Amino acid sequence: MPDVERLLIVDDDSSMRMALYESLTGCGYEVEMAENGADALARFKNGRFAGVVTDMRMPKMSGMDVLKGVKRISPETPVILITAYGTVSTAVEAMKEGASEFIMKPFSLDDLEFAVKNVLAAGARPKSDDRHTDSEEEAYPGREIITQDQKIIDLLEMLKTVAGSKSSVLIEGDSGTGKELFARFVYRHSGRSRMPFVAVNCAAIPASLLESEMFGYEKGAFTGAAVKKTGKFELADGGTLLLDEISEMDIQLQAKLLRVIQESEVDRLGGKMPVPVDVRIIATTNANLLERIEQKTFRSDLYYRLNVIPVKVPPLRERGEDIFLLADHFIRKYSEVNEKEAPALSRQAKAVLHAHNWPGNVRELENIIERAVLICKNGQIEPSDLLMDAIKGQGPAHKADERQFPQLRQEIDVDGENTLQEMEKRMIFSTLDKVNWNKTKASRILGISVRTMRNKLNEYGVKDGEADD
Ligand SMILES: Nc1ncnc2c1ncn2[C@@H]1O[C@H](COP(=O)(O)OP(=O)(O)OP(=O)(O)O)[C@@H](O)[C@H]1O
Ligand SMILES: [Mg+2]
Repeated sequence: MPDVERLLIVDDDSSMRMALYESLTGCGYEVEMAENGADALARFKNGRFAGVVTDMRMPKMSGMDVLKGVKRISPETPVILITAYGTVSTAVEAMKEGASEFIMKPFSLDDLEFAVKNVLAAGARPKSDDRHTDSEEEAYPGREIITQDQKIIDLLEMLKTVAGSKSSVLIEGDSGTGKELFARFVYRHSGRSRMPFVAVNCAAIPASLLESEMFGYEKGAFTGAAVKKTGKFELADGGTLLLDEISEMDIQLQAKLLRVIQESEVDRLGGKMPVPVDVRIIATTNANLLERIEQKTFRSDLYYRLNVIPVKVPPLRERGEDIFLLADHFIRKYSEVNEKEAPALSRQAKAVLHAHNWPGNVRELENIIERAVLICKNGQIEPSDLLMDAIKGQGPAHKADERQFPQLRQEIDVDGENTLQEMEKRMIFSTLDKVNWNKTKASRILGISVRTMRNKLNEYGVKDGEADD
């Protein structure tokens, strides 16, 4: 890192260049400007820059070429791209080339300043910051949300503008839609991104332990409390606390949580004084909380307290081309992991992916592609590599394709009369049958959580003991 933070701005539009210049010099950066890609790379070779901000669409050399050129000379240097709405797939491409951040047009200068500050701070952050062992940010380097769905793009834009506030965020969406990824997105775009991100999974921790997990206890607070325990709220102080699967929190604990949020202080078990905390809450749920309120298992006051910024993540089957964009992303990811040349998806394999209903959403797609990359041959993924046998009977989401692919319709054994629920049930049972009713295995194949599987079986009237792992 150079001592002085010097930035290189590349834009063919002179008024834009000036606006960027004014704004960034105003923030105390030293700024050099280039009006085209060739000029930019020449300057870059001869100078030391902390970062590069480039427009995407420019005559001759595009922002993408600038990005590649910069990365060739100095892979460490962060590059921020400014792109227009219509070019999100190019943005995805650029991300693969190592772009640090995108700013979508139209943007405010605040957005720009914020992005630059964040990107430079990320570069300066020591890699082994283990100050907070509960912080999970290190485990998720550069996790990006891949999408070209306009609804999601708009949602992300909205989130960027509100991320800086302390308001609670409630993320609703089916299993595997990417709720956690959205939570991390908010965190990364908040002013709290250098502070801890701490996650509590309310479904995974037994109700009796969740309270001390969240609020901590003093030494000797109860038999067995030999040492003091710091709760997640205190660990997240100054930062962000993710309450994953909030619907599963015990109703009594919900009351305590509400109090902590309202008062901004926690009571440790056995503690004499409340401890002040400054925490941004993000909660996720795949259950319908309004229904839970009606069933009296969720407090409405807590719901409204959490739902200040509502985020509804749509299921994968409603995201059109995202299926292929994501498939492509996962193909590259797992080819890299397995040090394999990235295979292509055959036309038939694409049709199978397109026709599938994706009850397990992005996670299910990721699992299917991870396996397919491993087992496919001759650089091509065929329908048989997708191992989607287990989901025979799953109905297609798009009628037009049935006509286009009659053989496919036969292959996946579509029965037009069935409702989605019936097909889901059939799919769950046939998968369980194939794996000797091992629920963990079956849920993994279907891309749903074991808990979702249990809930489904409950719905079907199968008792837990009848279907044990
Ligand atoms: N748009 C996306 N781009 C890239 N990867 C994604 C996207 N959405 C989801 N994923 C990946 O899919 C997997 C599931 O996402 P995530 O854990 O965020 O979902 P979730 O909604 O929290 O699921 P659950 O309800 O089961 O907890 C993760 O590996 C995540 O990285
Ligand atoms: Mg999750």
